[in-house]
Amino acid sequence: MELLETEGLTKDFGGLRAVDHVDLVVRRGEIHGVIGPNGAGKTTLFNLITGYLRPTYGAIHFKERRIDGLPTHRIVTLGIARTFQIVRPFTELSVLENVLVAWGHRYYRKTGPFRPYANARRRAREILESVGLADRADIPAGTLPIGLQRRLEIARAMALEPELMLLDEPAAGLTEEEIGGLKELVGRIVATGVTVVLVEHRMSFVMDICEVITVLDHGRVIAEGAPEEVAHDPAVIEAYLGTGSVNAAG
Ligand SMILES: Nc1ncnc2c1ncn2[C@@H]1O[C@H](COP(=O)(O)OP(=O)(O)OP(=O)(O)O)[C@@H](O)[C@H]1O
Ligand SMILES: [Mg+2]
Repeated sequence: MELLETEGLTKDFGGLRAVDHVDLVVRRGEIHGVIGPNGAGKTTLFNLITGYLRPTYGAIHFKERRIDGLPTHRIVTLGIARTFQIVRPFTELSVLENVLVAWGHRYYRKTGPFRPYANARRRAREILESVGLADRADIPAGTLPIGLQRRLEIARAMALEPELMLLDEPAAGLTEEEIGGLKELVGRIVATGVTVVLVEHRMSFVMDICEVITVLDHGRVIAEGAPEEVAHDPAVIEAYLGTGSVNAAG
């Protein structure tokens, strides 16, 4: 069994089927893209995998263990961390403290709550260094521009030391230059042995960085494969044209 496998994963919101019998297979070490028009079910898929939502039907296996139905904190402990499409830092806390909040959880898990705080601060600074936020460590997180808030989101996910990282539109609102930096950062994260699933509308970014892409439309998988295959798939082109989505060109 691969690192993450969903089987017939389905989520209904009343009469709306947001995720419809999705079989997603994510292999260790890959960067796996999930794309699709607005409302296709991408964020709902992440919410199911991370335990924010319970599936209506289907199963989720992570490291050969069934995780659907587990609470989010258990899923984090097993090794899945995520970022949010709408960034949500603790705006009043400093950038460093935002990472420490994530680490508090990690510390509790490993050693109980009494391990020296100084170690956590040192590790948090290392993480900020690696995402390029070291010089902003002590300012309130709410004052960061959007590009750096997205980096802070990734730093907080890194602090959880996941095996699988789910990134929900990490390139949204970023300049081309910032996207270059993001590619490099995601590459470094993967080089440390982390597997990444990436939801994204910025096509050039997805096409460049992902080895495999799964395309969702109305909750269903309509295509899957290497970036160049998927980009030329008639069903994919149709799905994007059908929405008139300007994002598709991005
Ligand atoms: N909590 C909820 N309650 C009811 N409907 C929801 C809920 N969350 C999502 N939906 C609906 O489910 C569908 C899928 O939404 P989702 O947010 O997963 O799409 P998405 O692919 O992430 O879209 P986007 O690209 O715009 O972020 C949409 O029709 C949305 O309105
Ligand atoms: Mg979304």
